[in-house]
Amino acid sequence: MENQLQPSGGAVVSVQNLVKQYGKFTAVNGVSFEIHAGEIFGLLGPNGAGKSTIIEILEGIRKPTTGAAHVLGYSVTQKSAKIHERIGVQLQSTTFFEDLTSLEILQLFSSFYPNGRNPQEMLREVFLDDKASVFPQKLSGGQRQRLALAAALINDPALLFLDEPTTGLDPQSRHMLWGIIENTRAKGKSVLLTTHFMDEAQKLCDRVAIIDQGKIVALDTPARLIASLNIASSISAEFQCESPESIQLYKLQAIPETVQAKKNGFSINLQTKNTRAAFSGLLEYADEIGAVIENATVQSPTLEDVFLSLTGHALRD
Ligand SMILES: Nc1ncnc2c1ncn2[C@@H]1O[C@H](COP(=O)(O)OP(=O)(O)OP(=O)(O)O)[C@@H](O)[C@H]1O
Ligand SMILES: [Mg+2]
Repeated sequence: MENQLQPSGGAVVSVQNLVKQYGKFTAVNGVSFEIHAGEIFGLLGPNGAGKSTIIEILEGIRKPTTGAAHVLGYSVTQKSAKIHERIGVQLQSTTFFEDLTSLEILQLFSSFYPNGRNPQEMLREVFLDDKASVFPQKLSGGQRQRLALAAALINDPALLFLDEPTTGLDPQSRHMLWGIIENTRAKGKSVLLTTHFMDEAQKLCDRVAIIDQGKIVALDTPARLIASLNIASSISAEFQCESPESIQLYKLQAIPETVQAKKNGFSINLQTKNTRAAFSGLLEYADEIGAVIENATVQSPTLEDVFLSLTGHALRD
């Protein structure tokens, strides 16, 4: 790591008061954060939150309206060529040259860099060694994403940018990609990824910035974000009763130790500080209105609950 390049305290990315306007629309509205060397940092937020805009400003693809951003010590508006040598970029969707095989694509990418890595070795790292002679349009979605990751890693970057690396992938492919991303961190590299999957952010990221409507609403480790909710569990259930109107939200809110109660038709959700108290309160209330409780589930709180409590809406509406 070239320490003289770091602006402060080992930050590989430093963003201050970043604003991006598209015409009159403000897509990024005063965002500040730092990414430390060696961490996987996540931007977690729903569609349209501004994640791609932020990551593309850091990649030098878009210009900020106001504010400052430094990557590996260089200003993104002044030194994008310097930055490009040392970052790896995977865009939200990748189009490959259709008449080159997987191996030929990596050979081409590798030739762009003086320190370009061995393409065969890269294929092995992303578990595509048996696909060397296959054209990208014949690869599965997960395999294409892994090829894109290999291309992003071909210059042995200090910092890797991944925009929604696992969107559209099946669970097996997602886990495979997570493994490759974790290996990248194990080699001392830093990663910035965007995602709208709370499980991905929770599993993979050392720290997460939760972003909504162009603003960071919380930033911390997943564990601390979840602990800050101060709830024991999230209970969901369905009430079997005559009509949804017989379920009173204020009655659910009045159940002891309830942090938040929600109702949607016959379905209810309670965030509680005490799972046992919540259940006995729910049963009592069901008795009171002559309802039966069905399909009750108890879940440990997740980043989804954090998002809900901070913004009042679900991560995926
Ligand atoms: N070139 C553009 N011109 C006008 N508006 C844009 C442009 N690019 C993005 N936007 C708007 O800015 C907002 C943020 O877009 P952005 O792509 O950064 O969101 P995102 O968080 O990456 O969303 P997703 O999860 O869907 O990828 C959206 O409302 C989008 O419509
Ligand atoms: Mg996006």
